[in-house]
Amino acid sequence: MRKLIIAGNWKMNNGPSATRSLLAQMKEKITDVKENVRVLVCPPSVSLPAAAEALNDLPSVDLGAQNVHFEESGAYTGEISTEMLSELGVNYVIVGHSERREYFGETDEIINKKVLRLVENGFIAIICVGERLEERKDGSYFDVVKTQLKGALKKVPFNRMPHVVIAYEPVWAIGTGETASPEQAQEMHAFIRKEIASLYEKSESESLPILYGGSMKPGNAAELLSQPDVDGGLIGGASLKADDFAQIVEIANQQR
Ligand code: PGA
Repeated sequence: MRKLIIAGNWKMNNGPSATRSLLAQMKEKITDVKENVRVLVCPPSVSLPAAAEALNDLPSVDLGAQNVHFEESGAYTGEISTEMLSELGVNYVIVGHSERREYFGETDEIINKKVLRLVENGFIAIICVGERLEERKDGSYFDVVKTQLKGALKKVPFNRMPHVVIAYEPVWAIGTGETASPEQAQEMHAFIRKEIASLYEKSESESLPILYGGSMKPGNAAELLSQPDVDGGLIGGASLKADDFAQIVEIANQQR
């Protein structure tokens, strides 16, 4: 049975002091995480040291980052390297989020370079894919996701696949309050698994965690997480509230 991963993407919210206080609240509420459930939070970069320290008291929650540069070091003003993230105990990094693609010009080629840097350096890359509303409407959504997957995973060898997590995040469901139906999510997750099986082998596709993201909240998490190919959630808005996030963790516990 695949593990369920519940990941909080805080986006550009919570500086160091807000991070300390949110994690202190989470410590009160997230008291049990089942062995087959992984929980992580991805604060903004400047808050990673505060989060790393706070998580010493909350060992059942892992630390993730929202971005990384693909080069090892050097003249890249404003950027952060894998080595810097390692020093803080970061295990997971979100790559290719639709907001990065849309507002920061991240292409499949850039995303692929980041993925390669991460998987070669022992991190787990959470690769986001997902179609826009017009692509859902015009029926091209499978092709869009297939292209994103192939682009992100170019030259990633099969033995690095345990370092890859895919997050299916339909852009029309992010921060909009609108969620993909459990059937729509399941359909796309099954498609992603099939594509991974054709790029690699069935065994890699069977063990690949595929998360759903897009307005997941306590009220819809159970239905989404009970789909056979939905292996967790990448949660934005609801991960900023200790109560909501803890409730989603509890729902994941019940699934496992
Ligand atoms: P949301 O964000 O849960 O606020 O829709 C999800 C994400 O962008 O990762």
